[in-house]
Amino acid sequence: MTVPANELPRWRRAARIAAEARELGVSLATPGRSRREVAEEIEGYIRRHGAEPAFPANLSRNEEAAHYTPSPDDEAKLEAGDLLKVDVGAHLDGAVADTAATVEVGGGRRHENLMRAAREGVEAGIAHVRAGVAVNELSLAIEAAIGRRGLKPIRDLTGHTIETYVLHAGKSIPNASGLSGERLDDGEIVAIEPFATNGAGSIENGVFGNIVRFRADPGTEDPWLQSAFARFRTLPFTARWLDGDADKERLRRARRHLQTYPVFVERGRGLVAQAEHTVLVRPNGVEVLTRLD
Ligand code: CO
Repeated sequence: MTVPANELPRWRRAARIAAEARELGVSLATPGRSRREVAEEIEGYIRRHGAEPAFPANLSRNEEAAHYTPSPDDEAKLEAGDLLKVDVGAHLDGAVADTAATVEVGGGRRHENLMRAAREGVEAGIAHVRAGVAVNELSLAIEAAIGRRGLKPIRDLTGHTIETYVLHAGKSIPNASGLSGERLDDGEIVAIEPFATNGAGSIENGVFGNIVRFRADPGTEDPWLQSAFARFRTLPFTARWLDGDADKERLRRARRHLQTYPVFVERGRGLVAQAEHTVLVRPNGVEVLTRLD
């Protein structure tokens, strides 16, 4: 999908809010704070600025690569040395931005190489974006940047195009070469998100987590479900966003309408760092929508 020029301001606003929320999350990731508090601060920031979270704040830790969001009663505290991925999405009427950064809790330097590899990976990918470019050119650059730090990209997690209300649209942006035969088009919105690891370079499913999503419109039989679908459409959401136990119970009963995401864990139990930006493809380059300057 190509975003019409008159809609671009909305995508830029959503992206700025997501980027600010990401930086807030990074700054709050300190020893002794719970991931639930950090997630609520991130999501609260997005709402206070007039947007909605496009998915629950993902706060995956150490060998967890993605899809961890805290449950409503998760009080486990962050510890110094934890490697925390702060992956944030915001949307304005379906204009979605998706962005991530990795932080070492407590500000030590033991994970510096992993964090740099992810950042250099995303920058290497961004440097190749322009209309008509082969996706594989980005993948090659990402893989090489991570490889230069003696680390591996995670092959089975990819960047993705974004469309209105659709977080993962048609095209994937692999973090390793030889996996895509597609090209990028002018006006496309693309999330580029390399994951660097000192493990096996792939993921496996861990426990089922706290992120769910409607598979499709649940129909009009159940008014509560219909109102939940009107609010979230097919974007991911979580029990923390529901009021009270009655709604949480309704959500449990609606399981057949929902997809539940497992937490992705690095297959070799390596540590994982991630960096992500949402970009707009231009005829001769790129606009990085989630970069704050
Ligand atoms: Co993404």
